[in-house]
Amino acid sequence: MRAFTLAERPELKSEFEKLDERLWPEFMLHGDMNNPDEFRDFDEYQFAYTDDSDQVVAAGQTIPFHWSGATGELPETMDAILQNALANREAAAATSAPVKRRVNYLCAVAALVDEPARGQGMSRTILLEMKALARRKGLLGLVAPVRPTSKPRHPEISIDEYADWRRGDGQLYDPWLRVHEQLDGKRLGFAPRAFRVTASVADWRRWTGVAFEHSGAYLVAGALVPVEIDLESDTGTYIEPSVWYLHSL
Ligand SMILES: CC(C)(COP(=O)(O)OP(=O)(O)OC[C@H]1O[C@@H](n2cnc3c(N)ncnc32)[C@H](O)[C@@H]1OP(=O)(O)O)[C@@H](O)C(=O)NCCC(=O)NCCS
Repeated sequence: MRAFTLAERPELKSEFEKLDERLWPEFMLHGDMNNPDEFRDFDEYQFAYTDDSDQVVAAGQTIPFHWSGATGELPETMDAILQNALANREAAAATSAPVKRRVNYLCAVAALVDEPARGQGMSRTILLEMKALARRKGLLGLVAPVRPTSKPRHPEISIDEYADWRRGDGQLYDPWLRVHEQLDGKRLGFAPRAFRVTASVADWRRWTGVAFEHSGAYLVAGALVPVEIDLESDTGTYIEPSVWYLHSL
């Protein structure tokens, strides 16, 4: 299957966006971010796969950004990655740009596979395409703040402990972390506060169907960790961790 970037096939953009919105739990579409829609504005860095009827069945989202290469200097949040990418967009690959503004790494934002196309190895294909894209763009590597896909089944386990779980055959337990490791990704560490959603209790009720009758920690479908509800301040706060991987090209 061939990947098309949205720069190559702009007419796929609306299907691409619909897939993105359909595959996440509702609360994931309401993160505390400045201009989140701009994640999709890097058309050369977004790609889609289509089926025989030209419907988008899978997609990859990436953005180029500047990183010093020091693990301690990785952005702490998805929002910081986006702001870094936006600030440095004009300096993409421009050798005249100051080193600190030069885009030099590709960041994986999301891999999306529509339900009927799942379980056929598409996630590997997408990750390989992200690496190929970074290579074509002359970047130094691909870094990924990975959202472990089976973590919602174990919301009360810490991310550090969970990310080390292995099966009897020695492979990582989590399917998406496993794909990153199998494709030679090197784990760099954790972003404990990669993605945050802060909203009113009414919004959280609407998004999750949970009644939230008392303040405290709640488990909600699709969340990696519990959501903290505070009825007094009418706030629900979700702070999602992720696991950093680096892929050399
Ligand atoms: C995560 C996602 C991209 C996986 O896509 P996929 O093409 O179905 O995955 P693959 O077929 O490549 O499978 C990859 C591995 O995960 C395993 N896997 C896939 N779905 C699984 C599931 N529901 N439960 C457990 N394991 C699963 C596969 O067995 C495979 O592991 P193995 O080869 O070691 O056995 C897809 O489920 C998705 O789009 N989810 C919603 C968005 C998301 O969470 N994206 C990832 C974070 S950005």
